[in-house]
Amino acid sequence: MQTLAGKKILLGISGGIAAYKCAELTRRLIERGAQVQVVMTKAAKEFITPLTMQAVSGRPVSDSLLDPAAEASMGHIELAKWADLVLLAPATADLIARMSAGMGNDLLTTLVLATDSPVAVSPAMNQQMYRNVATQENIATLARRGMHIWGPAAGEQACGDIGPGRMLEPMQLVNLCEQFFQPKVLNGRSILITAGPTREAIDPVRYITNHSSGKMGYALANAAAQMGASVTLISGPVNLSAPAGVKRINVDSAQEMHDAVIAHAASHDAFISCAAVADYRPEEIASQKLKKTASNDHMTIKMVKNPDIVATVAAMTQQRPFTVGFAAETNDVETYARGKLVRKNLDMICANDVSVEGQGFNSSDNAITLFWPQGELALALASKEALSISILEKMHELMSLPPEA
Ligand code: PMT
Repeated sequence: MQTLAGKKILLGISGGIAAYKCAELTRRLIERGAQVQVVMTKAAKEFITPLTMQAVSGRPVSDSLLDPAAEASMGHIELAKWADLVLLAPATADLIARMSAGMGNDLLTTLVLATDSPVAVSPAMNQQMYRNVATQENIATLARRGMHIWGPAAGEQACGDIGPGRMLEPMQLVNLCEQFFQPKVLNGRSILITAGPTREAIDPVRYITNHSSGKMGYALANAAAQMGASVTLISGPVNLSAPAGVKRINVDSAQEMHDAVIAHAASHDAFISCAAVADYRPEEIASQKLKKTASNDHMTIKMVKNPDIVATVAAMTQQRPFTVGFAAETNDVETYARGKLVRKNLDMICANDVSVEGQGFNSSDNAITLFWPQGELALALASKEALSISILEKMHELMSLPPEA
């Protein structure tokens, strides 16, 4: 079932270069069943034409507060009541400042004042404007008033600068809209999730790690929070920001991850072990940087086993959370995954074939088969965000079953 089917989204476009992405955004929202009503500021029309937005949305664009003809069809108060979600993208520094001050000096700001629907703000501006304390305070004010702040992303900007201030990509905004409308089936549940790689130190400057980016675990944490759960994310070193509303605990090594998980497992209803935990670590960490010598062409590092975190949690005898593991395999995926499900005493395992290009480690998409003692479910290649919702829905279903007699 499409979560956006029948949802009414009022897309407010203000005058920034990212406005050109709104045609794509509108198309993708409509493709998923949403109705999109576009409202543009005067400056927005300098960047993308109302005709384009009318063509992609299939509705006349609203752009004036003082147009008797427009008011006669769907007036500004009706528009404000019509929306299930007001999405402001791009939201320029100027629009954000005017909203923060409570102004209603054009149709868009008036609508924001007049609506009691949820409002999501997707900032887009030059990185220095974004960093400016005035903008930061204005964004904080909007967040404090309950508006959702989606983005910005960081990277190269249209003006040539590099830094935070890029509007999120259309598909990221679509995913956020989908997650926003996701039924809150996990309300009242608490979920502990591990994500990312671990680092096993060799000496003060070197370590052993793997290719996990953290994307899968962070997508799960984000989706769980959007579905109403209270989420604790224990994260190895990654380049991702904590999803909104998620409590993050940073760790480096497998032992640190183990200790953090054990400290929190009993107070959560479910544990998802998505991290790529190193199975072994160097037996000794050299206190000084290891030196290359003329006589040593080879080097041997003696490794010892790390604790198996997910198996330790699954073996808990009191306050044991519903325990879900992952299996990252390059061959015989089902056989190895089923073996781990039984050997580690898990309630469910998410098997992914990490040998296939474009899925698994460090990709935005994945394909997963879920195995649990009484069944299995194949989830075809999709974004990690979309897969996370399916994984959590299945977990919710299994957790809600009455305990076996
Ligand atoms: O982070 P991304 O770039 O998005 O990539 C996602 C992913 C490929 C890392 C993810 O989808 C995934 O497969 N995670 C599990 C990786 C892994 O370590 O798999 P494994 O088959 O080696 O381990 C089996 C299970 O035991 C896993 O749940 C793992 O978290 C857990 N484990 C492993 C070793 C250990 N010492 N303790 C553990 O808890």
